Amino acid sequence: MHPRKILVTSALPYANGPIHIGHLVEYIQTDIWVRFQKLRGNRCIYMCADDTHGTAIMISSKKAGVSEEQWIERVREEHIADFTAFDIEFDNYGSTHSEENRKLCGVFWSALREAHLVKGKDVEQLYDPQAETFLADRFVRGTCPFCHLENQHGDNCDNGHTYTPADLIDPVSTLSGATPEVRTAPHLFVELEQLHGFLDEWTQCGKHLQREVANYLKGHFLHEPLRDWDISRPAPYFGFEIPDSPGNYWYVWFDAPIGYIASTQQWCERSGEKLDDWWRSDETEIHHFIGKDITYFHTLFWPGMLKTAGYNLPTKVHIHGFLTVGGEKMSKSKGTFVKAATYLEHLEPSYLRYYYASKLGSRLDDLDMNLQEFVAKVNSDLVGKVINLASRSAKFVAESGLSAEYPDDGGLFTQGAAAGDEIAGAYENCDYNRAMRRIMELADRANPFVEERQPWNLRKDPQRAGELQDVCTVALNLFRQLAIYLSPVLPRLAAQTGELLGKPIESWDESKTPLVGTPVAKFKHMMQRVEAKNVQAMIDASKENDMSDAPANEATNEATDAATFEDSDQPLKDEPLTEEITFDEFIKVDLRIARIVSAERVEEARKLLRLTLSLGGDERRQVLAGIKSAYEPEALVGRLVVMAANLAPRKMKFGVSEGMILASGPGGSDVFLLSPDDGAQPGQRVH
Ligand code: MSP
Repeated sequence: MHPRKILVTSALPYANGPIHIGHLVEYIQTDIWVRFQKLRGNRCIYMCADDTHGTAIMISSKKAGVSEEQWIERVREEHIADFTAFDIEFDNYGSTHSEENRKLCGVFWSALREAHLVKGKDVEQLYDPQAETFLADRFVRGTCPFCHLENQHGDNCDNGHTYTPADLIDPVSTLSGATPEVRTAPHLFVELEQLHGFLDEWTQCGKHLQREVANYLKGHFLHEPLRDWDISRPAPYFGFEIPDSPGNYWYVWFDAPIGYIASTQQWCERSGEKLDDWWRSDETEIHHFIGKDITYFHTLFWPGMLKTAGYNLPTKVHIHGFLTVGGEKMSKSKGTFVKAATYLEHLEPSYLRYYYASKLGSRLDDLDMNLQEFVAKVNSDLVGKVINLASRSAKFVAESGLSAEYPDDGGLFTQGAAAGDEIAGAYENCDYNRAMRRIMELADRANPFVEERQPWNLRKDPQRAGELQDVCTVALNLFRQLAIYLSPVLPRLAAQTGELLGKPIESWDESKTPLVGTPVAKFKHMMQRVEAKNVQAMIDASKENDMSDAPANEATNEATDAATFEDSDQPLKDEPLTEEITFDEFIKVDLRIARIVSAERVEEARKLLRLTLSLGGDERRQVLAGIKSAYEPEALVGRLVVMAANLAPRKMKFGVSEGMILASGPGGSDVFLLSPDDGAQPGQRVH
């Protein structure tokens, strides 16, 4: 088959802070996909860069007392060091603050102008007279004009009211503490509505986006005229000045995605390739990997720009959910906001690569890192099932090497080879958790073979040397087959396996043929077990006294710390177990997996969100859930939950509720929705 030509990107990380384990979900996910494609023999290149422009970077560099250029250079070096340490291998890592990017921005801009998509409009915005800059929404705080809650964000308050920063009562600039003034400045806009027809077709055709993303776009943006996109910012701004509009700069989100192409251009220059062969060619596939927070930019604005300027449209935008730790947002005070560099001081990168792979599916569900599960999974799967195969057999054949012919293994190797297509399909679809499950099933079949034949006993009897060699030949070949399948996730293990068996792992198809008659090197240690104490040390080292998300008092703080590994007995004391029921009573409650397909605040109600749940197919239920203080409705869309599906509908003040979704916690912001593991399907019964 003709090798595919694939260009892959991850979102360009902001040059405004260090890489953390949340970011790594994406870069590890993408790196696995790229390594998989390369292993399959496809031509695949992986492009990334730092995203370096905008107000946040101006502020950070000012605080650090360095120029913006010095700041972004420093951050770029740190980012590259972190990515390298996690075995994330870019073919080029550029910067949006590059000459290549400036020129390409000019090309896109001319195309937008020629297509008559740009228009000017005056914009009223808050201006900080002390810092002498216009203020983005997030740099203004003040009192909510609706509920009078103090110290709220520029565009929405904690009670869910939305407004513009100019509406805030007593606004304050977070940059200088000054009272901002309203000023008017001319801005340039892109009239996205002119591309509405194209975007409808491109987003809804079912080829480029996950179904839930297409539905989200339809329900949130495409059902009405698209708003003009404000694409310029007045000076002072760290970015590129717009050539035909002096004093105005392209907004960071204009030049950031163009950075994908600029990075490719750098790679092309180094590798003697032509940019148009990658970005203006029917033969190339373009795959973007991004988090769900930046969906809008990549699925509406970016395709619109590419189309207008005559570049390839994305073949697929793969969108993933967000990382939570222990079921909660990463938190500095709880030590779960772990920087890549802090992780590396305590733990091996392979652990995280494998753990994320075992959790990642092809949907947008958030991915929860449970620290106990992390330890258990790595130790039981990688150390216990995979590496054990090699460590218990390699040393017995260090002198003899592998048998000259592949011995009878009861069909294990052939079964492993036959599973290759299914595993490859799961990788291709970003369904890594399915791939990992399949691989571990193979490991589960291989281990009993070794345990039953006990090579450690066979070696005591010189008469049985041939048998010993055969058993170890099988064990090492089954191990190698697993290492090949795992190599996109665990490149270090693949390299170690290559050294052990004298043959580097270079292609997926090597999983089909066993190695025979080759020497076996002295077995070197491959991976240590994860120690829970090292995980705890990493959490302790990540704790920062960050009051913004710290619990109100010290006592609560301590309780939370201990809870990382030792569960408190308080919940049971607060609510003792109820009386026993029979099994028949239990199964009367029909618990089902459901997907939240839409979620909105019931404005008049203090606690309620209105949820539409899908039970698969066209089955929909409306549920009014008292979880308003605990969840942002936007964050719930796409998430799987468990619902009691056969409850009699209940008429409430704000409508009928056709069931309940399961959650724990005392209420208020302490409500914790139950989520099934990846792989569960809406409509499935929960037993
Ligand atoms: N600079 C923009 C992207 C521009 S692309 C042309 C940006 N940068 S970021 O540093 O904030 O995020 C980089 C990527 O990491 C994004 O895709 C984002 O969704 C992802 N993540 C950041 N925090 C994350 C988690 N906590 N969990 C999972 N992914 C997260 O957005």
